[in-house]
Amino acid sequence: MDIGCGTGLELEYIFQKAPHAKLFCLDLSEKMLNKLKEKYRSKIDQIETRAGSYLEISLEKNRYDYIVSVMTLHHLKYTKKLQLYKNIYKALKESGKYIEGDYIVEETKEQKILKNVEKNTADKTNGEYHIDLPFSIRTQKQILAESGFRNFNLIYKRDEAAVYSVCK
Ligand SMILES: C[S@@+](CC[C@H](N)C(=O)[O-])C[C@H]1O[C@@H](n2cnc3c(N)ncnc32)[C@H](O)[C@@H]1O
Repeated sequence: MDIGCGTGLELEYIFQKAPHAKLFCLDLSEKMLNKLKEKYRSKIDQIETRAGSYLEISLEKNRYDYIVSVMTLHHLKYTKKLQLYKNIYKALKESGKYIEGDYIVEETKEQKILKNVEKNTADKTNGEYHIDLPFSIRTQKQILAESGFRNFNLIYKRDEAAVYSVCK
């Protein structure tokens, strides 16, 4: 499953590694999903898409071998991300893996961003608003462990981008 798949940039690499993979691609935007389907016409039998939010969808337990997310979770606050990771954990098979690529910052920058976010959102108790809230590798490791995952593996890190995986 690819959550927040957009137009499916990462699918190209997934299909290189696993040409027969069956994918469930979830995104808020129907428009993005239509582009994805157009782009991967030749693999359409292997792709199921759904327009919806990964914060709201109810996922079947022990269903997926892999769940991936790329550049889509860095706007979530700690507690929301924790809840989502717990749902991802449940949706994975026992031998399953979660792989995430996202915007990552150093710990000092993370603290500054957090303070600003608290200040700017303190008076907004309702409604949704987009904020960039990238975490450090240390915080990512902590939330994933708190969700039940183990074996945090930092696969790639360059400037403010990183890819890491965890096992159920
Ligand atoms: C920056 S794009 C990344 C797309 C793709 N993963 C990539 O790396 O090319 C972020 C995507 O996350 C989707 N998104 C944001 N919040 C979402 C949510 N709550 N549920 C599902 N998709 C979401 C957006 O619609 C957008 O397509």
